[in-house]
This record gives sequence, structure tokens and C-alpha cells, in this order.
Amino acid sequence: MTQNWIDVTARETVAEDDVVGIDVNGKDLALYSVSGEVFATDNICTHGHARLSDGFLDGCEIECPLHQGKFDIRNGKALCEPVNEDIRSYPVKIQDGRVFVDLGSFPTS
Ligand code: FES
Repeated sequence: MTQNWIDVTARETVAEDDVVGIDVNGKDLALYSVSGEVFATDNICTHGHARLSDGFLDGCEIECPLHQGKFDIRNGKALCEPVNEDIRSYPVKIQDGRVFVDLGSFPTS
């Protein structure tokens, strides 16, 4: 797949053990920081229209605020009912204090 690294925000925007929602050219992403590492997934739950950035982060699991479905933020795996569809996750790299997310073939302009 084509790489498409996008500079999405400053590293300090994502506090440790926290999740933030960020708009990247119309795409709603959730960024997480756990153990000093940053992870990125789509922000809209695969079960309904809820933003995971409004949910509860517990280690590497994000709990959806609407029906408490959970995903593994490292790979997007759906972990429990009612979610049964994985959420898309994206490669992340940190460079010069900035967070870059590889959105692959997602059109960003
Ligand atoms: S909308 Fe996320 S679990 Fe239902």
C-alpha cells in the first residue's frame, strides 16, 4: 500500500494515558499515548456514531462511550460485544516533536 505520512499534531498534544480526537483534512482520528508510545485509529466507533476520544482509555484498550464496546488501540481489534467489527488503525512515527500518521491510500486533499 502507498505510504502517506501526514503531520497531524505536536507530540505534546497527546498526553500520557490519554486520548485526543483530531481532524485531519476531514478525517476524524483518535490519537492515544500509552507507555510513551503513540497510537492512531479511526475515531468513530464501528458500532454506532460515537467518538472514541470521548471514551475511557484503560491501558491499550479504548472503551466506547456509547455502549461500552472495546478496541485494542494497537491494532484496532474489536474486543467485546457489542462491537464485532475491528476499527482501522494506522502506523505512527514521531519526528522532530511531531506526530506523523500513515493514512495509506486515504485521500487527504
Ligand atoms: S457506538 Fe460504540 S459500542 Fe455502540
